[in-house]
Amino acid sequence: METVVRVEGKRSVQVLSDIEAIGQEAASLFVNASRNSVAIRRRFVVAISGGSTPRRLYTLLSTEPYRDQIDWRNVYFFWADERCVPKGNEESNFKTAFERLLSKVPIPDGNIHRIKGEEEPEKAARAYEEDIKKFFGMSGLPVFDLVILGMGEDGHTASLFPGSKSLEETDRLTVPVYLDKPNWSRITLTLPVLNNAAQILFLVAGQAKAAVVSEILGDGEKKRQFPAGLISPIQGNVTWLIDQEAAGKRIG
Ligand code: 6PG
Repeated sequence: METVVRVEGKRSVQVLSDIEAIGQEAASLFVNASRNSVAIRRRFVVAISGGSTPRRLYTLLSTEPYRDQIDWRNVYFFWADERCVPKGNEESNFKTAFERLLSKVPIPDGNIHRIKGEEEPEKAARAYEEDIKKFFGMSGLPVFDLVILGMGEDGHTASLFPGSKSLEETDRLTVPVYLDKPNWSRITLTLPVLNNAAQILFLVAGQAKAAVVSEILGDGEKKRQFPAGLISPIQGNVTWLIDQEAAGKRIG
């Protein structure tokens, strides 16, 4: 399998053959990032996303050769966003990660910082913000060691949707997002928090996303219309792992 890699300053783009290759590459990146972070800071704090694309990654991290390369006692999980549903609901981002990963690795329960999607959205958003501030022991912006993001066909990421007021939020770390459809609201980390991360990893697959991917990875100003195009880490770096369909390129 051939991988096309392009590095532009703090952004690198890897075009891989398919979602399995994205999962494998992301799992290696996760292992390396966790080792570096634990070696330096004795902890690795990651914020993960829901949706379908990261599921293969979560499953891989719970299996060899990745599982035993990670010091799970020092890994802390947060979420980039959550749907306002109970944790047992099929739509729950917590459930997605718990079933495929967190229930299968020796991570202490206290290391899992879930967004309480079952609660009233504003209350849940504020509680999550308090949890983040308490964990990082600070008042400013937290620095997640790694944030794993996906992207929707409309260019949304986490639960930051095109034209949404939540994109303008500069004070709060987390906000509720009220959507017309589907009939559940969301809780999301805000742009300043995402852009303050040490490392951001986008996992994007499928032809349906190729048009937006080419806008965001292109040089035009149109990229700023898409929330995923506003992800530009202040101090960290961002890696896009995309498959050949999303890259609109054929490999080999
Ligand atoms: C969510 C995600 C969301 C997701 C995109 C892409 O809660 O749904 O956090 O931002 O990453 O919608 O979803 P897919 O990976 O399923 O295409």
